[in-house]
Amino acid sequence: MTSFELRKQFLSFFKKNNHIVVPSSSLIPDDPSVLLTSAGMQQFKSYYTGAADPMVSPHLSLKGKPIGGVNVVSIQKSFRTSDIDEVGDESHLTFFEMMGNFSFGGYFKEEAIKYAKEFLDSIDITIDYVTVFKGDKDVPKDEESIKIWNELGFSQEKGNLKLENKEENFWGPTGSEGPCGPTTEIFVNGVEVWNIVFNEYYCGADGKLTKLKKSGIDTGMGLERLSMVSQEKKIIFETDLFKPIADAVPSSLDERVKRVCADHARSIVFLVGDGIRPSNKEAGYILRRLMRRVLVYENLYKDDGYDTLPLLKKAVEMFSEFYSEIKEDDIISVFSQEKTKFQTTLAKGLKELERVDSLDAKSAFRLYESFGLPYEIIKELGGKKAESLVQEDFDEQLDKHREISRAGQERKFGGHGLLLDTGELKAADEEELNIVTRLHTATHLLQAALREVLGNEVEQAGSDITADRTRFDFTFERKLNDKEVKAVEDLVNKAIKDNLKVEEKEMSYQDAIKTQALHFAKEKYPATVKVYSMGTFSKELCGGPHVSQTKEIGKFKIAKQESVAAGVRRIRGIIEEA
Ligand code: ALA
Repeated sequence: MTSFELRKQFLSFFKKNNHIVVPSSSLIPDDPSVLLTSAGMQQFKSYYTGAADPMVSPHLSLKGKPIGGVNVVSIQKSFRTSDIDEVGDESHLTFFEMMGNFSFGGYFKEEAIKYAKEFLDSIDITIDYVTVFKGDKDVPKDEESIKIWNELGFSQEKGNLKLENKEENFWGPTGSEGPCGPTTEIFVNGVEVWNIVFNEYYCGADGKLTKLKKSGIDTGMGLERLSMVSQEKKIIFETDLFKPIADAVPSSLDERVKRVCADHARSIVFLVGDGIRPSNKEAGYILRRLMRRVLVYENLYKDDGYDTLPLLKKAVEMFSEFYSEIKEDDIISVFSQEKTKFQTTLAKGLKELERVDSLDAKSAFRLYESFGLPYEIIKELGGKKAESLVQEDFDEQLDKHREISRAGQERKFGGHGLLLDTGELKAADEEELNIVTRLHTATHLLQAALREVLGNEVEQAGSDITADRTRFDFTFERKLNDKEVKAVEDLVNKAIKDNLKVEEKEMSYQDAIKTQALHFAKEKYPATVKVYSMGTFSKELCGGPHVSQTKEIGKFKIAKQESVAAGVRRIRGIIEEA
């Protein structure tokens, strides 16, 4: 079956069985404890714990509408950074599509297992064997699943049911804490295709398990693996999800290089599609690594005719029908800009790489810092010289460097306020700090104005402030028209003209919430927080810094608006001297 058909069959099977189809959430998660979305359940985390109610709570990937039911199905864009170094072998990938059915108290083991079996039967896939959790000192043996599988013809006696330990058959949490539980896994032709998680526990940040009030179901089946078994291919790169892309790599190139390029081209297309841009931090850094790796190959295999653009175009052609956020123009322009940026330093970096006698973590980090050479490339091209270089040591250098620059920034901000919950402020000196602070206060006014003009469905989805502009992301489904832009600007400028006093109050988190101050529902705040308010116009939980009177801001203008992901808009705002 083609992958396109598999997607359709999967969604329609669960729709037929009373599941609500929820679109994939963005690869940029709204859970700050993870860098990129790596599992289908992430967008549903708060429904398992009871922190959100699927019948009433606004759901981001439904543009703020509630889900309206307790059983859902999705095909989630997922990215696993932990596998970057393994890409090139027969099975590892960075980006993949994870098909999953989920239930937040609607059904449990029996239905989940039976649905899985019935769906695989319906697409003519025969299960080899299944695995079930054998139990340990904290979590009992999963007798119930064994019984259900027995009824379906799977047992230890027959050799098609195996008991496994926690390492294999226990899943979660994603990020630092969250729902988790024992699993049962389904294997076809020796490949694990489906992981069914019984979310019975909550794993705290300290690793302690407590029973969830309601047990839930979380399942994940990689479309790539399912396509491999359905299309009877031996490796993932031969399925219709990769082959057309890999075929755009000259056949003279090594198989491993071909796979890396095909994998990375897909990932680049999806990451850029969700609004990520190459940078030196977080998700932007991941994207940069992927781009630079293929750019190094372009440089090395020029004479063989290797060029990444045709791969990117092919990936756009293959995936934009299902994922409308993928836009060819954006991808080409972001990739070309990174290429231009990287070209001059790459040549110098490669020369330097040749010149050095040996490569340890420190010298490798220097190459990264001065020439932007990613770890993989240093390791790969360094050959014998880089034999003893390992990722952990390199990462340690990277972390050390990050801590130093963060400490420097925190000093400038008097020890707090640098990291704004899901947003960030960046300033290099006193002068920049002054502008950034004014823009920060303006951002609070902007959010208040957006909610007044567009309604309370507007919620902050992120922010980033530099001396040039404030960049504010919020939930809203369409472009603002000229009238709305003007109304928002006018409201902000009126609040500035009124010269409101910016009041700062410290209080307990509980009290702060009672004041109706804006905050991130899912964010973990400390016990004591600061609430900044400006008259009755704006009130938000925030770390500061802010101006003391709104007049200090100057004149505010919306410079640009764009779309970041489905249902999320971005506004860039600037200030001018009044
Ligand atoms: N959340 C489970 C996984 O990612 C289903 O494997």
